[in-house]
Amino acid sequence: MDLTTGIRVRPGAAGDLTELTEIYNHYVVHTPVTFDIEPVTVEERRAWLDSHPATGRHRLLVAEEAGRVLGYATSSPFRDKRAYETSVETSIYLGPGHTGRGLGGLLYRSLFEALADEDVHRAYAGITQPNVASMRLHERFGFRPAGLLEQVGRKFGTFWDVAWLERRMA
Ligand SMILES: CC(C)(COP(=O)(O)OP(=O)(O)OC[C@H]1O[C@@H](n2cnc3c(N)ncnc32)[C@H](O)[C@@H]1OP(=O)(O)O)[C@@H](O)C(=O)NCCC(=O)NCCS
Repeated sequence: MDLTTGIRVRPGAAGDLTELTEIYNHYVVHTPVTFDIEPVTVEERRAWLDSHPATGRHRLLVAEEAGRVLGYATSSPFRDKRAYETSVETSIYLGPGHTGRGLGGLLYRSLFEALADEDVHRAYAGITQPNVASMRLHERFGFRPAGLLEQVGRKFGTFWDVAWLERRMA
């Protein structure tokens, strides 16, 4: 059975902000997958949402089922300096009850289709270790190892490694 039937992928909108913030904050509070330590507010997330319009290099796509946001994927600036503009950093977060049913693949497929006609040359993802599901998902979408930063962040009193992965976009 296809567990993704009935799921719609679309650009994120202002009406999604509360759900998007809740999903992200779950991982802020309970896991090292993001290095934010304090939960973010909906207001802080508004600027983030506005920086991901429906066109261009920096996108926000949400997976929705029956009016509920189940997860999201983004492409964001990799670094600020101008020559980096052809590179994006991608990230993906599913609500804690919605992992393991193919939604990650659905969102990433849509994200990379959306970026296919944009001037994006490389995509990067930083994955706190260990995270088998995320490593597998990124490898399935053509990301290749680009380096390991050892103990680059401290959260919950522990130092964490981050693997960087790189995907050719053009
Ligand atoms: C990472 C994430 C986006 C993956 O999406 P998903 O829809 O849950 O992915 P899947 O269930 O299809 O799993 C991806 C792969 O990992 C494998 N996998 C998942 N959990 C695993 C585990 N504990 N051990 C071994 N393999 C595992 C799956 O079998 C699948 O393998 P395949 O590609 O060979 O079929 C999602 O799990 C998530 O949001 N996790 C929490 C937030 C997070 O870690 N985000 C990424 C930050 S870098």
